[in-house]
Amino acid sequence: MNEFIRVEKLFCSLNKVQVLKNINLVLNRKEFVSLVGPNGSGKTTLGKVSTGIIKPDSGNIFIDGKDISSLSLSEIGRKIGYLFQNPDRQIFAPTVYEDLSFALKYKRTPTDIIEKRVNEVLDMFELKHLKDASIYRLSQGEKQRLAIGGILLNDPQYLILDEPTTGLDPKRKNDLSRILKSLIEHVGILLISHDKSFVLEHSHRIVELRDGSIIDDKKN
Ligand SMILES: Nc1ncnc2c1ncn2[C@@H]1O[C@H](COP(=O)(O)OP(=O)(O)OP(=O)(O)O)[C@@H](O)[C@H]1O
Ligand SMILES: [Mg+2]
Repeated sequence: MNEFIRVEKLFCSLNKVQVLKNINLVLNRKEFVSLVGPNGSGKTTLGKVSTGIIKPDSGNIFIDGKDISSLSLSEIGRKIGYLFQNPDRQIFAPTVYEDLSFALKYKRTPTDIIEKRVNEVLDMFELKHLKDASIYRLSQGEKQRLAIGGILLNDPQYLILDEPTTGLDPKRKNDLSRILKSLIEHVGILLISHDKSFVLEHSHRIVELRDGSIIDDKKN
C-alpha cells in the first residue's frame, strides 16, 4: 500500500470557531507534499489533527492503514516525526547531547550506539561545538536544527515539518535541502511552509488551503 495518511471528510473547530471544513487528503509514502496557504488558513491545525495531536469534530483519519482512534499518541509518534512550528515546544533536556540521546536511551539502546548515532546527527547539523551547551543559549536556527536532528534519531516513516526553514540562513537552508533530498528516498514528507522557493524546489505535490478548505492540489 502506497498511502500513509488518509483524511476523509474532516471538520475541526478550535474554541468554537470552525478552522477546517471538509478536508479530504491522501499523503503517500516517499512523496513530498507541501501544504501552503495564507496565515490562519489552517495548515498547522491540519498537521496536528492528522496526527492525533488535536481531535477533530468529525471525519476519518487513517495512519498506515489503521484508524487513528485505534492508535495511541506514542504509537503515532513512533511512525511520524513532527516538527512543531515553534521548536521551543519540543526541546526539553538541559543540553544538546542529552536532548538528542533522550529517545534512544528511553528505547534502551546500547550506549555505544547512542553515541555513534548522536554524533552523526551532531555532524550532520553542525552542532558538534554545542554538544554540551544549555539549550537555553541556542539561537532559533540552532534550535530548529536540534529539533529536526532529534526527530531523525527516532527513524520515523513519515515526517511533518511545520515551517522548518524559519530562522535558517541560506547556507543552513541548503544543508536542510540536502538532508530532505536524501530522506525522501525512504520516507514521506509533509512540508508546511510559506517559503515559495523551498516549496518549489522539493515538492512532488502542492496542496493549497484557504479559510480551512483545500482549494488546490496539484503536481509540481
Ligand atoms: N488554540 C486555538 N484556539 C482558537 N483558535 C485557534 C487556535 N489555534 C489556531 N487558531 C485559529 O485557527 C485558524 C487556523 O490556524 P493555524 O495555526 O492552523 O493556521 P496556519 O495556516 O498554520 O497559519 P500560519 O501560516 O500563521 O502558521 C486561525 O484563525 C487561528 O487564529
Ligand atoms: Mg502554522
